[in-house]
Amino acid sequence: MLNYFINFKNQLINSCIINRIDRKVKKRIINIKDPNLRIGYKYFENYFSKDELSYLNEYFDHRNFFSNETIRLFEFVEKNFYGYIESYLGENAKLYSINFNTIQPNSKNKFDISASWHNDNLGNNLKVYICLEGYGDCPTGVVPNQNTKNYYPNIFFNLRFLGKISQKFKKDEIDLKYKTGDCAIFDTISPHRGKYEKIKNNKRRCIIINFLDIEKIEKLGFLEYPKFLFMKNTKPPFRKILPKNFTKKNNDIVTKIKKFKFFDERFLVEDDENISYLWT
Ligand SMILES: [Fe+2]
Repeated sequence: MLNYFINFKNQLINSCIINRIDRKVKKRIINIKDPNLRIGYKYFENYFSKDELSYLNEYFDHRNFFSNETIRLFEFVEKNFYGYIESYLGENAKLYSINFNTIQPNSKNKFDISASWHNDNLGNNLKVYICLEGYGDCPTGVVPNQNTKNYYPNIFFNLRFLGKISQKFKKDEIDLKYKTGDCAIFDTISPHRGKYEKIKNNKRRCIIINFLDIEKIEKLGFLEYPKFLFMKNTKPPFRKILPKNFTKKNNDIVTKIKKFKFFDERFLVEDDENISYLWT
């Protein structure tokens, strides 16, 4: 219970920073031409070729960041999604993490905290889902038209941390029904949940990439510690931690990765021979 209040206090401190930075984003959103993206999501059906599917699957298995697969993934993102991301978050939009996510059929899925309605407590934040295997039975439910509102910590959503799961149908909610080859972009300021309890016999595999305004990342802990008057945030969403997992540097790959507009060099730590990245 004490944790619940500490968590809430931290979210309140963050909300001041988040809403200040998102002010510019909201102005941009209302002028977006695409009618779906304007209300918080965009769906792309059957969006990549067999060839793209096979290298993305290989990438999912190896997960080697400093590899040609990352460059191919970044090219895919640049060609197909970056225009939407920049029109939404602006030119400060940077990629800050890549998740390799598998949902297996399991009766415990129902109790996963992401299966309960929530927002990601980051204000306007874009996730891109790239579905490598899916059958439409494990969607993300999203409530559109909530993305131009300010972010405030939600006491009901936070109850999920105390084990109180909320999965009730919401008016206007839509389902992003990922099937193999589909992609989706959505803003995690909108109430959403993974409908994991609906999955049938087969797993779902997605690569999920996350984009945020870099200034928000810096101020939420990466460079500055979030605080309000004398109150400090005890658990900032981003921390500049000591680098680990150093690998031998391949200069050719590193140079190519650094060229992408949505990649930020501050996430890299390197010397002449070794390199590591500092994502969350
Ligand atoms: Fe979420």
